[in-house]
Amino acid sequence: MKNILVIGATGQIGSELTMKLRSIYGNEHVVAGYITGAEPKGELKESGPAEICDVTDAAGIEGVVKKHQIDAIYNLAALLSVVAESKPKLAWKIGIDGLWNVLEVARMNNCAVFTPSSIGSFGPETPHDNTPQDTIQRPITIYGVSKVTTELLSDYYHKKYGVDTRSVRFPGLISYVTPPGGGTTDYAVDIYYSAVRGEKFICPIAAGTYMDMMYMPDALNACVQLMEADPTRLIHRNGFNIASMSFDPEGILAAIRKYKPEFEMEYKVEPLKQANADSWPNSLDDICARQEWNWKPQYNLDTMTVDMLEKLKVKLLG
Ligand code: SER
Repeated sequence: MKNILVIGATGQIGSELTMKLRSIYGNEHVVAGYITGAEPKGELKESGPAEICDVTDAAGIEGVVKKHQIDAIYNLAALLSVVAESKPKLAWKIGIDGLWNVLEVARMNNCAVFTPSSIGSFGPETPHDNTPQDTIQRPITIYGVSKVTTELLSDYYHKKYGVDTRSVRFPGLISYVTPPGGGTTDYAVDIYYSAVRGEKFICPIAAGTYMDMMYMPDALNACVQLMEADPTRLIHRNGFNIASMSFDPEGILAAIRKYKPEFEMEYKVEPLKQANADSWPNSLDDICARQEWNWKPQYNLDTMTVDMLEKLKVKLLG
């Protein structure tokens, strides 16, 4: 059985991915790596091993990898786009110096590595509609710059050293479990919380701004499916476009109003978030992921909305 380390196990993706990996590979085989101040709690803490694992501390990562004989690392440590813009140096330290540490440990200890890229790796010159897998990437945010570098450095380690690096370009991820912190796409999560609480939603993104989004169960499946994919079929590695839905604020509002007709929204556009969103694609073409590892999402805007409203009702209102 494979041993896996999740770095950033208490974050938005990590908290759910760790549990999913434990359900597949066995609780004892999946180590939740966390930093001080973000300790695992509840089921995540109780169900399996946990270790302090700071991505900026190469020796610390290596210690955990050796202790647990790790075969694969899911490196989820990152700052999201808005917070990264206010702390560019820290974003680089975590995203790139951290990735370097992970790749070096992986090279020395023969581990596979998954490090997410993002729709943020594209820029204003990228074709915005049906954005191809291989196209111009000139991002204007530090988040995007670090994600393009992530893709290139991960490819480099594969080509030069044979490290089994793989990744996807995540769209905005929507989930009812752990909220995202400081991203441009966060509005598409926050809007459901407002809807369930019966509050008016103040939308920071302008009407008509389309971005790719994805429900967390599909995102988790993508991670596992790609890491389990037959390497002989992979023409690309870092990172694959994946897509399941694209909408603007009016679209998600309409989807929620189908079930909550009284729900209200008002626009108060935040310039930094809007600039980020305007520089990112409207929708990605994910044909390469479909062809090379059978990627296929399960959720669309309507089925996600039904599930989000149901689950958040239980979480917030009991
Ligand atoms: N969700 C990310 C952000 O908004 C983009 O991948 O920063």
